[in-house]
Amino acid sequence: HAEDGYNLWLRYKRIDNNNLLLTSYRKTITAIQIKGHSPTMEAVRKELELGLNGLLDTHIPTKDTTTNTLIAGTREALNLEDKPTGPEGFLIISKVINGKHYTIITANTETGVLYGAFHFLRLIQTHQPIENLHITSSPRVKLRLLNHWDNLNRYVERGYAGISIWNWHTLPDYIDDRYIDYARANASIGINGAVLNNVNANATILTGPYLQKVAALANILRPYGIKVYLSARFSAPMEIGHLKTADPLNDTVRQWWQAKAKEIYQLIPDFGGFLVKANSEGQPGPQNYGRTHADGANMLAEAVAPFGGIIIWRAFVYDPQANDRFKQAYNEFTPLDGKFRKNVLVQVKNGPIDFQPREPFSPLFGAMPQTPLMMEFQLTQEYLGQGTHLVYEAPLFKEVLDADTYAKGPNSTIAKVIDGSLYDHTLSGIAGVSNIGNERNWTGHLFGQANWYALGRLAWDHTLSSEQIATEWIGQTFSNDPAVVTSIKQIMLASREAVVNYMTPLGLHHIMGNGHHYGPAPWSNKAPRPDWDPIYYHKADAKGIGFDRTATGTNALQQYQPAVRQLYADSNTCSDQYLLWFHHVSWQHKMHSGRTLWNELCHKYQEGVDTVSAMQHKWEQLKGYIDPERFHQVQMLLAIQHKEAIWWRNVCLLYFQTFSGMPFPANYEQPD
Ligand code: GCU
Repeated sequence: HAEDGYNLWLRYKRIDNNNLLLTSYRKTITAIQIKGHSPTMEAVRKELELGLNGLLDTHIPTKDTTTNTLIAGTREALNLEDKPTGPEGFLIISKVINGKHYTIITANTETGVLYGAFHFLRLIQTHQPIENLHITSSPRVKLRLLNHWDNLNRYVERGYAGISIWNWHTLPDYIDDRYIDYARANASIGINGAVLNNVNANATILTGPYLQKVAALANILRPYGIKVYLSARFSAPMEIGHLKTADPLNDTVRQWWQAKAKEIYQLIPDFGGFLVKANSEGQPGPQNYGRTHADGANMLAEAVAPFGGIIIWRAFVYDPQANDRFKQAYNEFTPLDGKFRKNVLVQVKNGPIDFQPREPFSPLFGAMPQTPLMMEFQLTQEYLGQGTHLVYEAPLFKEVLDADTYAKGPNSTIAKVIDGSLYDHTLSGIAGVSNIGNERNWTGHLFGQANWYALGRLAWDHTLSSEQIATEWIGQTFSNDPAVVTSIKQIMLASREAVVNYMTPLGLHHIMGNGHHYGPAPWSNKAPRPDWDPIYYHKADAKGIGFDRTATGTNALQQYQPAVRQLYADSNTCSDQYLLWFHHVSWQHKMHSGRTLWNELCHKYQEGVDTVSAMQHKWEQLKGYIDPERFHQVQMLLAIQHKEAIWWRNVCLLYFQTFSGMPFPANYEQPD
């Protein structure tokens, strides 16, 4: 299945004969020597064999030869002086010992060696020289997780790539090869944990028979350095334990969780811990008993602490009674700073609302110095065209990670909050809500793979640029031909701003249809809750449009540091990107471009459509450079994206025109 996308970025496609690098690679590596026979070292051996034999189209023997051997092993096994860093870092060095040439991949742990092996293969896959290597690398963030929103019945909430890859029905006895390929793909980008089930959790996952299934998956993932975690339903003691309450301060409830933790750790000694969505969107939680998020999290933290487990408590909470959903998480969580046990992280979505094409950063970042905050990004493109639109999300992730909270003065970036360095936390984490399903190519849209890839790479090293990550991914997934790399990179790097422009330009947000969250429905005012309705967010009227979150409005701005507030507080200086997030401005408002707000809105929607046309055009030029299967697939999806960009533009502009009463600028396509 070489050309259907199944192999992701691990294609190991033969390097062309006329590429001089091939000769050099073949010369540098004539044998492989793997120190050790553990399952992890076996994974290292298999991957290096698969990768090198594929890329170099030769059979490299796994034995010690006189010279030009690739050696992989832990520092202890190799008896080396060189020091790799940390439990997951690795070192790749070219060495001459007694006149013989070696390339050595080493680490303090076997998992580190595996990461090093994947890095080495990446060098060759992206056509880098390998003769004189001295590479040290270690992850900046400790927990690098995927969150699967799997409902146990093969349905994935907000999943757009088929049904779930976890087949609970055939587990634990049937082990799909795909689980192993999943582990390989994750290990190749440093992902070291998977939360297997949905945050809207079904307590069944915590019953004996399901824990056997979870243990089977844990056994497969373990050699690849991946721990399993589970989403825990807060009311599980009632549903499967038949208790009368789930009150976190009740002794019987506490004992139930302690016994449950013990049962899990007996089956899975390296179980990661629990992820919890509580008192959010109708889910049960400690507030049902008049307790706080900290009470709930700490009860669970206490249960897993003896086994080294952790609790990841989500901060995604909002209340239909509140006057601004934006403010809720900050209001509920900041008073609890310092009240969580040591083994608790609070997981915060990147923005204050919900994975919109562009959001200002969540004001919680930098506002809870005593609590390790974990980043939650969404890979599955719930609000970004789902499985049909090409949107490379790395620029979105970077925009958030690079944002300055000013929490400890300038340069208090979110990246520093997340990696623990700003407040000296040892626990740190980034999670991506997975976009994986059972489609042949894993993510439905081939380019969804790039978002999975980018999440792993950025969690490992958030200083990488979107462009670097795209270059790597394209080289491994499509080709290293500079013309191909340049064109695909241009498509990818333009795609995020395109989706912002054709869906929600200038700071508009949450104007999609209720429930499915796919197409535009800015008029919608009939959702079961007011805070699910687009009109709650855009507030268009005869005077203008936008949500006043300044002191004259809900004053959500107050939740940021003064230096951040200043950026957004004045509608004349606030950047266009965030204008309607923070201001209700008149249709005649003069924008930085000199246009009126209305004309700028028309301009941006059109720009979004035009960018998609340009993406299509660039893709067309790649015909013949990419295998026909993948070329055609992306071509068809881009056509859908173009049609739907026009749909968004027309629907939104025609609707907003009913308020502005202003004509469409003459030089644009006229919406109809
Ligand atoms: C969004 C999404 C839900 C999900 C929720 C969450 O609101 O639409 O399906 O459950 O986020 O992150 O908990």
